[in-house]
Amino acid sequence: MEENNRNKIILEHRQGEALNTESLNVNGGKKLFLESYGCQMNFSDSEIVASILNKEGYSTTTNFEDADLIFLNTCSIRENAENKVRQRLQDFKKIKKHKPSALVGVLGCMAERLKTKFLEEEKIVDLVVGPDAYRDLPQLIEVAEGGQKAVNVILSKEETYADITPVRVGSNGVSAFISITRGCDNMCSFCVVPFTRGRERSRKPVSIVAEAQNLFEEGYREVTLLGQNVDSYLWSGGGLKKEVLTEEQRRNSVNFAQLLEQVALVSPLLRVRFSTSHPKDMTDEVLKVIAKYDNICKYIHLPVQSGSTRVLERMNRGYSREWYLDRIAAIRRIIPNCGISTDIITGFCGETEEDHKETLSLMEAVKYDFAYMFAYSERPKTLAERKFEDDIPEEIKKRRLTEVVTLQRTHSAYRTSEGVGQTMEVLIEGISKKSNDMLSGRNSQNTVVVFPKENFSKGEYVSVNVERCTTSTLIGKVHGKNVE
Ligand code: SAH
Ligand code: SF4
Ligand code: F3S
Repeated sequence: MEENNRNKIILEHRQGEALNTESLNVNGGKKLFLESYGCQMNFSDSEIVASILNKEGYSTTTNFEDADLIFLNTCSIRENAENKVRQRLQDFKKIKKHKPSALVGVLGCMAERLKTKFLEEEKIVDLVVGPDAYRDLPQLIEVAEGGQKAVNVILSKEETYADITPVRVGSNGVSAFISITRGCDNMCSFCVVPFTRGRERSRKPVSIVAEAQNLFEEGYREVTLLGQNVDSYLWSGGGLKKEVLTEEQRRNSVNFAQLLEQVALVSPLLRVRFSTSHPKDMTDEVLKVIAKYDNICKYIHLPVQSGSTRVLERMNRGYSREWYLDRIAAIRRIIPNCGISTDIITGFCGETEEDHKETLSLMEAVKYDFAYMFAYSERPKTLAERKFEDDIPEEIKKRRLTEVVTLQRTHSAYRTSEGVGQTMEVLIEGISKKSNDMLSGRNSQNTVVVFPKENFSKGEYVSVNVERCTTSTLIGKVHGKNVE
């Protein structure tokens, strides 16, 4: 999953999703300020929260000083992610002074990790709500409005919010997220997610396909299927685990390759992306489905974490360096021209200089299009915290991270430059950040492509001749409109 906690966004209410005035009157038009941190799953959850509160008559505001409810949807993945939230909470202290009725709620992974401890540590917080408890928000808000602290951090084995239509806040109207699984059963030793998100569960395929269909009818042209490990998606009629399935149940169940195909069939004009793939579970069957459909984007985010088998074992990732490289070879064989990105951690417990060099050499072998890179941050209760010493000094973690980042920069530039001279299909997402005369979109491989606006508009597919590039962006001219 693309970790994104540097880019917090303020969720805005999209036009065209006007609030139900009846409920507005009933609730006196209360305002919600909702800010999200962390991965795409959290942003997707915020759309569920907005939908639940929308029904209660809340409208969203981008100004927390106007808000009756201030919610932070939080991330625990690294210590830094948590520090940012704590800092942000300080900003709300003064609001409470001039508007004592305003409520501050902490949602998501940090809420789940810290539970009632949050209330002791941060006095300003009125509500603590874990990721599986959002249906309970109206009741919790009532409790908090009555002057009591409100907490629900119960994790569920079933909750997928399948029947809740997310309010697409902050969306460009072209791309949307669809959650297909929640939780994670993998227990990578460095990772807090299994503790904050609970057991893995898959969402009913018909509800996923219906959501994609509705989005398409509303004008969306791209969906991203989300899960911590999309390859372990399995629907077998309700919560049954793979290990306990009979032969017949197994035959009747829907796996990720089949789900991907079903979503791809919604329309050839709907692009399908997905995140995150797991090297231990990604099958050739999935790769063949990606190759078979033009509208499934030729882009795979395949986190490696380390290039050393010894470190991967300690990380409990379930694959070796060789296995990972075999999966890369399978991608290159079955889907030529596939964009590949990754996540890398430097300075994990016991990582030697030799191990670090193996990460650099694996990067050389793959030459990723893009990577998210992090220094290891020990998280409470994880296997690594309990079993290993966090023994790599901070300056060594940072130096190794710098080496990884520097190498990746050359690979990203190399991969981007490969696009120059090519003609490629681009889905237009909107005006380019740098110039109002340019439009911006992405090619199938997920690289940003910009070109002169002419009479084109967002949501259209165009064929672009790429003439030049920066390190991460392709620049060209439209050669033709692909689809009327
Ligand atoms: N489910 C995804 C990852 C989710 S977390 C997967 O299996 O790949 C996103 C990324 O954060 C991870 O891939 C990892 O690179 C990084 N990460 C997770 N825990 C971390 C920690 N304790 N310290 C540093 N980085 C971490
Ligand atoms: Fe964390 Fe591993 Fe699960 Fe990803 S697969 S969320 S890294 S435990
Ligand atoms: Fe995502 Fe952060 Fe939670 S990466 S699952 S929001 S710990």
